[in-house]
Amino acid sequence: MLAVGQRILKSARHTEKLSHELLGVLHPSRPKSFPLFSRLISTASVQKQRNGEAAAHNLQNVTVVGLGLMGAGIAQVAAQNSFHVTVVDEQDEYLQRGMVMIRKSLDRITKKKFPNEPKGAEKFIDDTLSKVTISRNILKSVEDADLVIEAITENIEAKQTLFRTLDEIAPPKTIFASNTSSFSVTELAKVTERQDRFGGLHFFNPVPLMSLVEVVRIQETSAATFNALFQFSKELGKSPVACNDTPGFIVNRLLVPYMMEAVRMLERGEATSSDIDKAMKLGAGYPMGPFELLDYVGLDTTKYIIDGWHEIYPGNPLFYPSETLNKLVEDGHFGRKTGVGFYRYKTANGK
Ligand code: 3HC
Repeated sequence: MLAVGQRILKSARHTEKLSHELLGVLHPSRPKSFPLFSRLISTASVQKQRNGEAAAHNLQNVTVVGLGLMGAGIAQVAAQNSFHVTVVDEQDEYLQRGMVMIRKSLDRITKKKFPNEPKGAEKFIDDTLSKVTISRNILKSVEDADLVIEAITENIEAKQTLFRTLDEIAPPKTIFASNTSSFSVTELAKVTERQDRFGGLHFFNPVPLMSLVEVVRIQETSAATFNALFQFSKELGKSPVACNDTPGFIVNRLLVPYMMEAVRMLERGEATSSDIDKAMKLGAGYPMGPFELLDYVGLDTTKYIIDGWHEIYPGNPLFYPSETLNKLVEDGHFGRKTGVGFYRYKTANGK
């Protein structure tokens, strides 16, 4: 545990205050909720004009529940854009892993943004991290949240249980958004009493780089909520699109059947995975082939998506499960994040 924290600290080149706060994360004796930097910065100073536009909503405090790959990315871009972000997960280990992801991503960004300016890079990283509060206490983490973004595992019961709890404890003003990649947002919202303040915010991996956010409106979503979510996405530097609550929204409805068909092509012995990848990169101009993308997105995530759709639409051949994918997931091979998927990886970034 400490080793992870020390690595964060070493690379963080951070102020002593932040170091102490981060170390606090590693000590179970600390209170369950602890600001990295307490919210000393006055709310007024944060309620500023972003990108020259007056904020059309009052979202300042954003809580991200679930600090996996997507949650970490969402928290990072929100903090980079001056929102106060609270990240909450149930175990210290997940929080630390998420913070390491954020740290590494910030390092990559600053290398490009501040190639010859170590001071500028350090300030950018410090400023971003200073906006992030880590918490294991769901109660405290939403007590002044304007927006809660759920980014936990793709399991509908788990999401509904979470939203039911959140609805009981979050103040009435709080807007709820799910980053679900495949479930009906309506089904998630209906366990709450705030369906008018509920929508989907679907981000893409890697969140710091991918420009798109699908802003999902259910029938009950109020215009004010939808506009706030749309504007919030713009303030993250993203290009949002409006989506209805249909399976997979726009991107996954097209992308997941495409990736599954690539797996079926492999199963039928029509081509090798590397040739299929090469073909789609060179012949269709995709940045990654379908197997590279499957490993990148996570085989577990893709399996959750396809299984969920297959259950709802058992007759649709586009959503048939795949034995190959099931076996890999059963063996704990989820792609890049576990080091093995359709390819083997030495590190999280390279085959
Ligand atoms: N944070 C910050 N910077 C990052 C980063 C991250 N997480 N990941 C990559 N980068 C930077 C690298 O440092 C590198 O910077 P440089 O140009 O200064 O060297 C640059 O991005 C390019 O990275 P790489 O050289 O490692 O690799 P690529 O050129 O192949 O780019 C990629 C990586 C942007 C991921 C590109 O391959 C790509 O666009 N792939 C497709 C991704 C995609 O389709 N995502 C959507 C998946 S679907 C989804 O998420 C929905 C969900 O619901 C399932």
